[in-house]
Amino acid sequence: MCGIIAYIGPNSALPRLVDGLRVMEYRGYDSAGVALQHDDGLWVRKDVGRVAALAERVVGGPTTHSGIAHTRWATHGEVTEANAHPHLDGDLRIAVVHNGIIENSTHLRTALEAEGVTLRSQTDTEVLPHLIRKYYKGDPVAAVLEALKQARGTYGMAVLFADHPDQIIAVRNGSPLVIGLGDGESLLASDPQAVVSMTRRVGYLQDRELAVITADGVVVQTLAGNDATLNIETIDSDYALADLEGFEHFMLKEIYEQPRSIRRALRGRLQLEEGNAKLGGLNMDPRDLLGVQRLINLGCGTSYHAGMIGAMAVEALARVPARAEIASEFRYRHPIIQRDALFLAISQSGETADTLGAMGEVITKGGTVMGVVNVVGSTVARISGRGVYVHSGPEIAVASTKAFTSQITALLVCTLMLARTRNLSLSEGQAVASELDSMPEKVREYLENPGPIDQAAQWVAEASYVLFLGRGFSYPVALEGALKLKEIAYIPCEAYPSGEMKHGPIAMLQKNTPVIFVAPRDGQREKAISNLREVQARGARVIAIHTEGDTEIAELADLSIPVPSCQSYASPLLTTLPLQLLAYKSGLLLGRDVDKPRNLAKSVTVE
Ligand code: F6R
Repeated sequence: MCGIIAYIGPNSALPRLVDGLRVMEYRGYDSAGVALQHDDGLWVRKDVGRVAALAERVVGGPTTHSGIAHTRWATHGEVTEANAHPHLDGDLRIAVVHNGIIENSTHLRTALEAEGVTLRSQTDTEVLPHLIRKYYKGDPVAAVLEALKQARGTYGMAVLFADHPDQIIAVRNGSPLVIGLGDGESLLASDPQAVVSMTRRVGYLQDRELAVITADGVVVQTLAGNDATLNIETIDSDYALADLEGFEHFMLKEIYEQPRSIRRALRGRLQLEEGNAKLGGLNMDPRDLLGVQRLINLGCGTSYHAGMIGAMAVEALARVPARAEIASEFRYRHPIIQRDALFLAISQSGETADTLGAMGEVITKGGTVMGVVNVVGSTVARISGRGVYVHSGPEIAVASTKAFTSQITALLVCTLMLARTRNLSLSEGQAVASELDSMPEKVREYLENPGPIDQAAQWVAEASYVLFLGRGFSYPVALEGALKLKEIAYIPCEAYPSGEMKHGPIAMLQKNTPVIFVAPRDGQREKAISNLREVQARGARVIAIHTEGDTEIAELADLSIPVPSCQSYASPLLTTLPLQLLAYKSGLLLGRDVDKPRNLAKSVTVE
């Protein structure tokens, strides 16, 4: 979603800002802009579309030493140059870039207009520079603090004053900001990836904190005016700049990285001899685990699908009632929070506003919530305090692939720990631990020989509608397959539990409609075969993802994609892989921008 980068120091700001914007492209955006201190004023350029277009436009721009820049993902107002950030006050001397949403912007806008202010954009953000201007009497910090007393909502923002080119003001409330401290130069960004090429010494601003950033350092205070400290840490080498490593796209690279990323999610956690696992970050001993009487997984999109799989595994192996909930629904339905329930907030980015909102609701009602997170130091990780890092490494392609399988893996490890305190004997625990341990190798084995994905992609790319079906553990996999296909190839499709097909979606089937059956060998297999025959009787084409050696399904299907054999709770780690490849290849056939699909954002920091 929107990205912020700011620079102040002895070097030319412009190329550093443009580089920072490029790094954040993966987050998804539709326009970009930059504001630099220049002569006695500000120099501003914006463009709709790619950062590359802005980069061309600013060639020959001023060599000055402080500036702010932004990639915008439209929320309030269309994708136009006027709506792109930075936004300026009426005198063009105060520039603001902002992530988040000013919820009372309509009211503020009307009040400003009544005072004679002319606003130039349709955005919620533009009220900020005008409000700051209104309260500016020579002290930038005082003006920003006063303006923010009027604004309600979420913000990560950077402000540049023409009168004070030697400082950048940053404020955070619900939208992440990281400050990078280099040698005589400083940076600010909404994404650590954007600062890492210049410095690894960073500090994360906390909610309701304001920082005055200069070339020599940073001074932090709270919005209430109290002193605050920025904890400086050295950023993880995981954030090293993303490299395609010979792959054509990040999505493909990340799909093929899964044997390693799943291994990382398991590393140091499985106890093969004890038939158990250890997740230090949960900080729960067996007695605490035994106290968990229900488990609720919260997440959005792909993370919600991982949560569904995790909940099914907990019920199947630990016999603890478990369910997954869509975070955006959960937070607003006045949920019942019980003392003996454990909530897990699952998020790749750790910044998803809906998931943070759901966590907030659990915390307000006195519940226990922990994070299952990829991005180290992200907001979910920090506000939960306890949890599990999934360690998939930075995911650059907008569509989630390796983070999904790492989330499932981490949830299966939690399941083993829970199950071992009640339902699983030593030998059963050993079997689960060794099954999990074998999964990276099985994933590698499948990816080495992925089956007729090209043919499947050809059928899918030609189709006007695609149906994904699966039962039990394979239903969330079907949902995930359909989500990936929509995201990457923009092909209308949906997923149903196979048994539901005849209750409606069967009406959609025509000659040659591709129907993707996720049907590994499990307790539901016989039923899956009946559903497969029902589909074929309507002339649809069946693409079956099944366990290798299952000749009956292989022969029945129009296209057979075998995956290695495994226990049903682990099967999503394998059956997901062909669906990821299918979305990727269908997207390529249709000429889509697979790493940066339209309208999508990597980290959805607004509701
Ligand atoms: C799908 C996808 C999204 C995210 C969702 C939650 O490919 O990436 O559906 O899964 O926006 O994001 P996180 O996991 O960052 O909370």
